[in-house]
Amino acid sequence: MTVPTPAVRDRAVSLPSAELPAYIYDLAALREHAAAVRAALPGRVELYYATKANPEPELLAALGPYVDGYEVSSGGELTHVGKAVPGRPLAFGGPGKTPAEISAALERRVSRFHVESVHELHVLAELARQVGPDMRVSVLPRFNLPVSDDSLADSSLAMGGRPAPFGLDPSDADTVVRLLTDGTYPQLTLLGIHAHLASGLRAPEQLAVAESIVTWAVDLAARQRVRLAEVNVGGGMTVDYADPDRRFDWSAYGTGLARLTAAHPDLTLRIEPGRALTAYCGWYATEVLDVKHSHGEEFAVVRGGTHHLRTPATKGHDQPCSVLPVEPWPHAWPRPAARQDLVTLTGQLCTPKDTLARGVPAPGLRVGDRVAFGLAGAYAWNISHHDFLMHPRPGFHFLD
Ligand SMILES: Cc1ncc(COP(=O)(O)O)c(C=O)c1O
Repeated sequence: MTVPTPAVRDRAVSLPSAELPAYIYDLAALREHAAAVRAALPGRVELYYATKANPEPELLAALGPYVDGYEVSSGGELTHVGKAVPGRPLAFGGPGKTPAEISAALERRVSRFHVESVHELHVLAELARQVGPDMRVSVLPRFNLPVSDDSLADSSLAMGGRPAPFGLDPSDADTVVRLLTDGTYPQLTLLGIHAHLASGLRAPEQLAVAESIVTWAVDLAARQRVRLAEVNVGGGMTVDYADPDRRFDWSAYGTGLARLTAAHPDLTLRIEPGRALTAYCGWYATEVLDVKHSHGEEFAVVRGGTHHLRTPATKGHDQPCSVLPVEPWPHAWPRPAARQDLVTLTGQLCTPKDTLARGVPAPGLRVGDRVAFGLAGAYAWNISHHDFLMHPRPGFHFLD
């Protein structure tokens, strides 16, 4: 069980049935959380929000005072974030950038390019040349680095430290640094190194990964006799869906990063978390449409489903939730109710994959009761397959 904030609970129970399901975002809670994250980070650590976690303009704006910029990973995100929070610094990443996307990013003068291959570097250089001789582009090549110990072992989503299509292979490092510093491409400047190796790491593992990345970058700079101003150690701070109260330890992480910056007085570090910033402020509220006893188990079918909230299906977890009882029963027939203590909550789709949470302790759950699924503020609506079965889209509420 995870308990919604009073504001979210009030909205979830007061919306008419026809306006459910609904995403409800508690922007005050988001601000409070982002302020605490910011406060835990030492000087010379910049915080960029990974837009892919949740690009709702209201969230981007609410995060504004607490972040140094936004990481975008497509032309679509670039345009969207440019409109939602105009004038804020953007870092443009993502594997497989098209020439049109790169040109759009150059036009917008994005502050940093995360370049993911030698080919992409050549394309970027050529397009920058076409813009004009005064064009200056700051580049952070993204590397898929080996990490020395088993620090990625607990990751739910490793994107590096193993064969992957993300970033450059370390064997390309010397070539890329040379291309960026020997005058071949005068419009490109090597600003630093970027690496995002995994998601779902706790603070000690994140710190070990950050230390590995910084050490590797500093060695590279020494070998090539170049100066690096920045190292971006990525995002991936964990959100524990099985135990929502066990949050990423930002304070321990900040303390560790402070040690790292103290050891490297010339470096600015950057982190780019997504999930751990916005997951907690979002709720998917719905109502129970039917309750069924089937072959010894209880199922409750709710309005909506994984076509709106795909997170539990993609990550294979049970989405934490709270039951919000609704008393009136307007019908003449008996109200269907769960007979056992544990209930599986499913959606309206015609597939057994449409399961939001199994074994939810919800004794007596009835048709018409409301359910609020928590941790739905990241990789939720925006990663879902909305059009499958053509059910209506949810409502969106931003509480401030
Ligand atoms: C390059 C990059 N940076 C940051 C993130 C954000 O990761 P998370 O939301 O786990 O913090 C991702 C996620 O895939 C990513 O690919």
